[in-house]
Amino acid sequence: MRKTAQFILGTSAAIMILVAGGISPAAHAAGKLPDEKVCKDKKNPPTDAVTKGACVILDRRKGNCWGCHQIAGAPSAGNIAPPLVAMKARFPDKAKLRAQVEDPDNIKPGTVMPPFGRHAILSKQEIDDLIEFLLTL
Ligand code: HEC
Repeated sequence: MRKTAQFILGTSAAIMILVAGGISPAAHAAGKLPDEKVCKDKKNPPTDAVTKGACVILDRRKGNCWGCHQIAGAPSAGNIAPPLVAMKARFPDKAKLRAQVEDPDNIKPGTVMPPFGRHAILSKQEIDDLIEFLLTL
């Protein structure tokens, strides 16, 4: 009986440490888009910038970036734009990545990529978050 109680106490302590350490499903977006369920979980909404940003990208009414780009974990792979891979190596300057998302027309006039910032399709906070996610790819 005592052993059982010790076991239960020990196990719950281990679970608490895991949760405190951030090993919750919401923190698993780094490197690939999460399951839509993670984004729509009203009881346990994502709170970290990386997962929130991944959810902005995933949302068809927000970023929908995977409609054109190949992004790891996306429901399908867009093939009209370059795959979003090795972002940190290719965009060591965060400001350049932000400029590309905010106003791509400024970088490549006539591009089909929507000006997510200039047209206020996404908020400043949403763009901040999605950049944090992009840099994990
Ligand atoms: C309608 C299609 C379309 C959508 C939607 C789109 N893009 Fe793009 N994107 C492009 C194209 C095409 C390019 C290639 C350069 C150009 O023509 O502007 C590009 C280029 C980029 C680049 C530079 C890539 C590189 O390898 O140099 C980044 C970063 C980028 N897009 C991020 C995003 C993000 C983030 C989103 C969602 C918020 C998004 N794009 C949504 C079409 C799109």
